[in-house]
Amino acid sequence: MDALTLLHERSSMGKLMEPAPSAGQLGAMYQAALRAPDHKELRPWRFIEFSGEGRERLGELFAEAEFQEDPSVGDEALNAARKKPLRAPMIIAVIAKVTPEIEKVPKMEQVISAGCAAHGLLLAAHAQGLGAMWRSGKYAFDPVVRKGLSLDDDDEVVAFIYLGTPGGRHKPLPQHNADDFVERWD
Ligand SMILES: Cc1cc2nc3c(=O)[nH]c(=O)nc-3n(C[C@H](O)[C@H](O)[C@H](O)COP(=O)(O)O)c2cc1C
Repeated sequence: MDALTLLHERSSMGKLMEPAPSAGQLGAMYQAALRAPDHKELRPWRFIEFSGEGRERLGELFAEAEFQEDPSVGDEALNAARKKPLRAPMIIAVIAKVTPEIEKVPKMEQVISAGCAAHGLLLAAHAQGLGAMWRSGKYAFDPVVRKGLSLDDDDEVVAFIYLGTPGGRHKPLPQHNADDFVERWD
């Protein structure tokens, strides 16, 4: 797949099956992620891979987050939270590892860089025929989840990238017209 086709045609795949990406495929994905634009070479990136039982540990964190938010929450909601990470054979949490004291590179720039890294993961997954979907949801911002993933105060969970083998067909690509989004100062 040539680069422009990849950039024009990447799309998300919500239905994900085994197998998870191989070590070689993951290596290519991380190399793509690490090419994210990075002001002052702060490398504000941290990735946590969840697979196998690691997904269950993440699910326990999600359930604990539900419980701390509302201790009267029912078993059904707790189990739904537990099951969320089981929707894919692998999840990569992309974390913006923010260095707050660098004046010339405000936090937003570092978070954007981590977002670009997440996009790199998606693109390299798609290029290799893998299925991938960027999810965040409320757990990305939850204090219990943040603590469980050992985030420092200024860090942010930018993405949970769900990964696996495509379990369905990609939905048709939306047909956007660039002119609807572009202003020109000639
Ligand atoms: C920061 C961010 C967070 C997202 N979180 C979710 C999410 O929690 N759940 C979801 O269904 N889609 C989420 N999405 C959107 C999907 O990843 C996807 O982009 C969207 O469904 C459009 O599909 P496409 O990527 O094929 O265009 C998120 C996207 C971004 C950029």
